[in-house]
Amino acid sequence: MLLVFLILLVGSVISQCIATKDQTTCSHPAKGNPKFPSNFTFGVATAAYQIEGAWNIDGKGPSIWDDFTHNYPHMIDDRTTGDIAADSYHRFNQDLKALKELKVTHYRFSISWSRIYPTGDISSRNQKGIDYYNGVIDKLLANGIQPMVTMFHFDLPFELQKIGGLANPLIINYFVTYATELFENYGDRVKSWVTLNEPLLYCKSGYGEANYPPQIEGAGIIDYLCMDHSLKAHAAVYRVYKSRFYNRQHGKVGIALDSQFSLSNDSAVVNRAMQYNLGFFAHPLFSKSGGYPKILVEEIAENSLKEGRIESRLPDLSGKWKHIIKGAADFVGINYYTSRYVVRAKTPNGKNPSLERDYDLDEISDPKWTRGLSRWLYCVPEGMESILKFIRDEYDNVEVIITENGYSDKGDLNDLDRIHYLKSHLQAVLNAINDGCNVRGYIYWSLIDNFEWQRGYSVKFGLYSVNMSSPAKERTPKKSAEYYRRIIETHSIPDDI
Ligand code: BGC
Repeated sequence: MLLVFLILLVGSVISQCIATKDQTTCSHPAKGNPKFPSNFTFGVATAAYQIEGAWNIDGKGPSIWDDFTHNYPHMIDDRTTGDIAADSYHRFNQDLKALKELKVTHYRFSISWSRIYPTGDISSRNQKGIDYYNGVIDKLLANGIQPMVTMFHFDLPFELQKIGGLANPLIINYFVTYATELFENYGDRVKSWVTLNEPLLYCKSGYGEANYPPQIEGAGIIDYLCMDHSLKAHAAVYRVYKSRFYNRQHGKVGIALDSQFSLSNDSAVVNRAMQYNLGFFAHPLFSKSGGYPKILVEEIAENSLKEGRIESRLPDLSGKWKHIIKGAADFVGINYYTSRYVVRAKTPNGKNPSLERDYDLDEISDPKWTRGLSRWLYCVPEGMESILKFIRDEYDNVEVIITENGYSDKGDLNDLDRIHYLKSHLQAVLNAINDGCNVRGYIYWSLIDNFEWQRGYSVKFGLYSVNMSSPAKERTPKKSAEYYRRIIETHSIPDDI
């Protein structure tokens, strides 16, 4: 009798745990067709500094991240660097094996500018660096995998920082020259280009809050300048591609924007939040009117005047540049990880001045949302569906590729939470497609565990684990790799995990 009672008791405790677990894992209800369109593409992403290592090999020059990790080690949680990382520079074949196992159609990787031009300038052209990426591209294509190439993923050549980096308008010309080199060398085979990765984030962190290199404390001023130059550099590259390369290369050029959806019952608050985030870059590129969102232009000008300035801290985007930028992308890349509730700020946020102060909203998370290991990462798949609908309605249903989406943990191979994240977010993408959103592809971040910027190697996003303590840096698939492969093979989202 006692035994039966104990069995019942243990059984009920276990089922309660499962119930609790189910309530807290992230999920999203299915709506409509359970299959992705047959031409929908699936990929995975990485970035040069996070995986390549070989920081000073074969003529590569230092980037601002080399300088940052070497000279400000206390800025990285575990005081590590990307000097060796997953050593993909020497071990690309191991990455290729993983890509083939996953059966992805696309691999999004970034090129290290200072491998191609060690000082950032054409005068330092480095053939060995150019050859390295030729090898990567050829091997991908030989295995039926399309390369999607990011030109700039945070790692600016250090020499260019000496002249102010992205705060100097000369960066536009340097970037166009570098991009032209990439089109000339790789454009015969690369048909999908991403100019810049997450300009809002690298400008805010590097030129505003000073917690990323180049650590400039210029909140609300220099970060806006960095965004302005980034936007112009992107558009100038797009125009060069269209006028000089498109006719023979027939590729697409886009930009990857960091995004989150802002949830609120008040549509004016949602709109305000979206314009201050996604809209910073998306409005000048994809809206009917072009230029920065009206609300930003008016409010930042007004705030600037109140501060006693003679002109707005947000550079003027009128005339020639407004025209060059409008329509200057074939697709928008969306890096979506999380969302927040937003309400009007109760008290002023951030420093004066700053983007936070101009933004004037409080962001709130829901205690019910499950959380990744990254402090900011809550699982909010409904935000993914909503942002895609926002883009559909606001930007004339421009072509969208989810260029990043991923979940962080400590690196367990039995990564059920990552599977739930993947499942629910792909469901949100599928629902959006069923609702008329023009989403053409999904790219998971990341193929392998890698150097997670300020978090070093303490936080993992990979579908494959990397044995960092072994010289051979072996890659091992996690449970999520198998699940993602099933999604790709069936073009649907398996219920059983
Ligand atoms: C970046 C990646 C990064 C990921 C997770 C994105 O902001 O593009 O480089 O690893 O998010 O933090």
